Amino acid sequence: MIQFRIDEARCTQCGECAVDCPAGVISMADYPTITNEEGCYRCQHCLAVCPTGAVSILGRAPEASIQLTGNLPDPAGLELLIKGRRSIRRYRDEDVSPALIDELLNIACYAPTGVNAEAVLFTVVKQRAVMNVLREEVMAQLVTLKDAGKLPAGFVAQYIGFAVKAWQEEGKDIIFRGAPHLLITSAPKDAPCPAQDTLIALTTFQLLAHARGVGTVWDGMFMMALALLPDLAARLGIPENHLVGYAMAFGEPAVEYHRTVQRGPARVNVVR
Ligand SMILES: Cc1cc2nc3c(=O)[nH]c(=O)nc-3n(C[C@H](O)[C@H](O)[C@H](O)COP(=O)(O)O)c2cc1C
Repeated sequence: MIQFRIDEARCTQCGECAVDCPAGVISMADYPTITNEEGCYRCQHCLAVCPTGAVSILGRAPEASIQLTGNLPDPAGLELLIKGRRSIRRYRDEDVSPALIDELLNIACYAPTGVNAEAVLFTVVKQRAVMNVLREEVMAQLVTLKDAGKLPAGFVAQYIGFAVKAWQEEGKDIIFRGAPHLLITSAPKDAPCPAQDTLIALTTFQLLAHARGVGTVWDGMFMMALALLPDLAARLGIPENHLVGYAMAFGEPAVEYHRTVQRGPARVNVVR
């Protein structure tokens, strides 16, 4: 079932795969063997940790993995990526190439998931023509709610009311910030960690997108709209049994930032 295979010509019997297995389902006889297939997390640590590329699992050959030694990004570049990322609220009126969107999603799905569930669903608006239809639909429904006095009191009425007013009076889109694309992550409610997995996936996507010149903004306004419009999740094709983690608008930025902001120091509570 999990297709755990050892290339005995390459295996040095070092036992690293058995020691590193988080589920403890590999034991060393002469060569590593799986003691309990059902207990395997499918995390592929055994494949990744083997110094000689002797382990394959789940039909994945070690040769198809990227070599890590000497290939990791330099920490200063990563620091700049984290510090230099800004929420983008001005977008060019063009599509991000579908191939790049696919590439970003196929890397973002490497983000960790609780118990390695790997169950995050990426619901994506890939074309700005579709996004424009969605924008019109959502705004029209919010206008109807507001005009009927049905926005719940408090900050929702305040924020959504403000967005509806900007749309009606200036044609300005505060909900999606005029972005040509939208990404929503969801996961089955009965997965071990759906709330966490979906946010980690989006965070990973965001940094990666930024590294490739694609701008993003976390979309809390859309999340409010989603809560207000009961048919919207189904309209987007999100399964009923899914927890929606969050949404992120993205696209080619129409703004350039020339320096980082300055934050910190971090609030730290050292346990003694
Ligand atoms: C959970 C979350 C929800 C957000 N929702 C929105 C939103 O609906 N609209 C928006 O323009 N920005 C939104 N933002 C962006 C924040 O306002 C932004 O991250 C913050 O002001 C810091 O700016 P920076 O992202 O450029 O560092 C959201 C950010 C987070 C983390």
